[in-house]
Amino acid sequence: MTTFKQKRRITVPQIRARKGGEPIACLTAYTAPVAQHLDPHLDLLLVGDSLAMVVYGMDSTVGVTVDMMIAHGKAVVRATEQALIVVDLPFGSYQESPQQAFRTAARVMAETGCQAVKLEGGREMAESVRFLTERGVPVFGHVGLMPQSVNTAGGYRAQGRGDAEAQRIIADAEAISEAGAFAIVIEGTMEPVAREITRRVAVPTIGIGASPVCDGQILVTDDLVGMFTDFTPKFVKRYANLGEDMKKAAAAFADDVRNRRFPEPEQCFGTKTPAAAE
Ligand code: KIV
Repeated sequence: MTTFKQKRRITVPQIRARKGGEPIACLTAYTAPVAQHLDPHLDLLLVGDSLAMVVYGMDSTVGVTVDMMIAHGKAVVRATEQALIVVDLPFGSYQESPQQAFRTAARVMAETGCQAVKLEGGREMAESVRFLTERGVPVFGHVGLMPQSVNTAGGYRAQGRGDAEAQRIIADAEAISEAGAFAIVIEGTMEPVAREITRRVAVPTIGIGASPVCDGQILVTDDLVGMFTDFTPKFVKRYANLGEDMKKAAAAFADDVRNRRFPEPEQCFGTKTPAAAE
């Protein structure tokens, strides 16, 4: 009889049930080795379209394609066994209609093996969120600062300062929660707005620059570990300096090579050690 290794992943209903309970810890992951290191420690890993900037050096997330998301999503799913894996739907792949959103989401889920997709938008996306969730696609929402709208917004500005803007973001979050999103990212948003959303919606809110009032937190891993240093948003806390460590390692390696200190006998095949040579 063929037996399959059963992976025990955190499920969408388990994340939804954490509303108001133990805070949900989430990070982004784009590659297999990084995902493997993060997996035992996190509840949810997001294959975010932020990979445009931190992996591909683009200046916004607008240029990401579905094929790029699928390639990175596959790598992350393969390398993990515990965290819930969510893949971002990229700009232009879902906004046209609920049918377009479903086709893209179904392809992403089937080809990567991820458990859910994330899409940006509020009231204007509610119909699509409902269409997807009623057809077996769990949706992670995203309101507040929405990087895919950088060109209409004119930049990356914290959201919810004035009353009208605050009410709009709250209405957006309520609309996608009612449409069936299992959790909602609130990005770059004033604390009182994040607090009101978290109080009103029935599903967990996951903050990124939205204060500790949210039901969980997410950061871009490359910001957290100091690998992406082109700019650092105010809401990032740096827990490591891997970029600096990498620069030091590269400089030390180059110096060893230029001074014939690398490789040493331990790194060679068939080389006589000084003792064996005597
Ligand atoms: O693309 C991404 O990494 C995201 C997070 C910042 C939430 O959407």
